[in-house]
Amino acid sequence: MTLSDTYHRAIAILRTNDVNGIFTKPGPRQYPHSWNWDSATVALGLAHFDLPRAMAEVRGLIAGQWHDGMIPHVIYHTGPSDYFPDPDFWQTNNSRHAPSVQTSGITQPPLLATMVRKIAELTGDTAEIKQFLSEVYPALWRWHHWMHTARDADGSGMCCLIHPWESGTDDSPRWLKAFERIHPTNVPPYQRKDTVHVNAIFRPTKHEYERYVHLIDVFRRNNYEHDQLLTHSPFLAQDVLFSSILQRADEDLIWIATKTSNTSDQIAAWMRQTRQYFDARHWDAERGLYFDYDMRAGCRLEVNTAMTFAPLYAGLASREQAERLLTHLHNPNEYDFDPATPTGSLGAGGLRYGISTTARNEPEWQAQRYWRGPAWPILNWVLAQGFRRYGYESIYQKIKQDTLALIEKTGFYEYYDPRDGSGCGSIDFSWPAALWLIFKRE
Ligand code: SER
Repeated sequence: MTLSDTYHRAIAILRTNDVNGIFTKPGPRQYPHSWNWDSATVALGLAHFDLPRAMAEVRGLIAGQWHDGMIPHVIYHTGPSDYFPDPDFWQTNNSRHAPSVQTSGITQPPLLATMVRKIAELTGDTAEIKQFLSEVYPALWRWHHWMHTARDADGSGMCCLIHPWESGTDDSPRWLKAFERIHPTNVPPYQRKDTVHVNAIFRPTKHEYERYVHLIDVFRRNNYEHDQLLTHSPFLAQDVLFSSILQRADEDLIWIATKTSNTSDQIAAWMRQTRQYFDARHWDAERGLYFDYDMRAGCRLEVNTAMTFAPLYAGLASREQAERLLTHLHNPNEYDFDPATPTGSLGAGGLRYGISTTARNEPEWQAQRYWRGPAWPILNWVLAQGFRRYGYESIYQKIKQDTLALIEKTGFYEYYDPRDGSGCGSIDFSWPAALWLIFKRE
């Protein structure tokens, strides 16, 4: 595809996946509803050519906000479809917190405040943007408040996750140990639909789905009451990627607060708290890696995944920590990523395109299965921002070139095999369409 072909194709995909001007499906068949961190990214992508539609995408997410402040991970604006779980499966209507539109009962990585700020910066200081920021700020604040309070299980103010779907990286090997400790009983009947639309080798296994469903069943039996969920969820984790995205979103929420003449003291306090606890929870000084924390087992989940680089995105790492992370990034047995070589060249470890979501030498690494190893445009974008923030411009540029090349050469896939760049998962996917526009303009 030529540059202009890709540009027009990206816009065409976002238009085709548009549903009634309210939300954008992540993919045409596999994901027919609004997903939180997909829609947030798509909103910024849309802002590159259609600002009113970008604002509508943000409003579509906010329309799903719960009375307690949570913005859920899926919003079923158009009712049931052939996606599992269907809206009724969540039984969120039994919760006093649920809104009138049907939604899932969990959340997802909070990219929204960051994307709203970026929409505003892209557009400039117009009266329309000022009005938009004032309109959305209270909803953003309430969501951040919910994450730092209703999901604070240990007084650190750091948001705890109760389901791997909240991490956005469902079957990442970082959750496997926590899943081994869960023994699902009386799993309600369910029928997977994902493997109808996408090759089963790209998707999470039955072992994982049993646990995903079991967790939903625990939540619905507790009517989505926070205290009950923190007490009874068999899965309870603090996530390096999620907390880094939240810390960065807090920073961007302060920017929005300033623009809209709101006070930001509370947000600054959340950020200080996260800084205070983050390393103790997540930094392994011996290995020079950040690991997620299993609150049920009271230990770190010591799996080397690309989420280890996410603290750079939020400015949470010291210079020394950042330098240690780079040794893992460059190691051919781990991420095999050398910014000095041209995009598409074969690394000594057998990888051509960054960044593999899991270190190559982890036993659970798989080149084509969901979050077990493939390169994902959204994670590439988040990590690239982090490397740029710390002045590693050549790494930023290489990740950007890899991502653009994957999209231009292979097409708009959900994720890519890092060995040869072949496309995996859903096709005509909204994330790469939005991220191609975003990266290209940066
Ligand atoms: N990512 C999940 C899925 O694959 C749900 O959020 O369906």
